[in-house]
Amino acid sequence: MLDLNELATCTRCQLSLTRQRVVIGSGPNTPELMVIGEAPGRSEDEGGEPFIGRSGQLLFRLLHEELGVTRRQCFVTNVVKCRPPGNRTPTFLEIKTCRPWLDEQLDLVTPRAILTLGNTASRAVFGFDSPMGAVHGRVVHLGGVPGVATYHPAAALRGGSSVVQVMRRDLAVVRQLLDAS
Ligand code: URA
Ligand code: SF4
Repeated sequence: MLDLNELATCTRCQLSLTRQRVVIGSGPNTPELMVIGEAPGRSEDEGGEPFIGRSGQLLFRLLHEELGVTRRQCFVTNVVKCRPPGNRTPTFLEIKTCRPWLDEQLDLVTPRAILTLGNTASRAVFGFDSPMGAVHGRVVHLGGVPGVATYHPAAALRGGSSVVQVMRRDLAVVRQLLDAS
């Protein structure tokens, strides 16, 4: 077991050598939603909070429009807590090494639903081994809590309105989960 108080100074993997800040994540212990992304980008590495850059702006606009949920009602974090150089995808080893921190957070936080963003987070959290196109919007359970995977907002920023439309439909599934619980 790890002590979350030590996360801010973690050196368990090589990403500790190039990061500015460990992006721990934050939110209420009983949030409406636990939102899990891939890894910090440049803005997050500088600011120390997840999803404070362009992806986050789109993400929280969609969450507000589709669920009526604000950032403060979410616990927001990433699978990997330090920025990979150049925003490359975290390696399998980095994901595995960082995983105990996410497990501590999953133990601590009791959300009404979990939302994973993109392939890396959805595979790591829900264990999917199919591409996002096959798994998004499907309801799965993690420790009794319902969860849904959707595309990463960075993919929507690249891919345009068709990706945003799919994300909205996936968020409608989350809304049904919240309405039902
Ligand atoms: N992308 C992520 O996956 N997480 C962040 O915190 C920011 C961008
Ligand atoms: Fe530690 Fe995770 Fe950062 Fe690696 S990415 S140094 S395991 S907090």
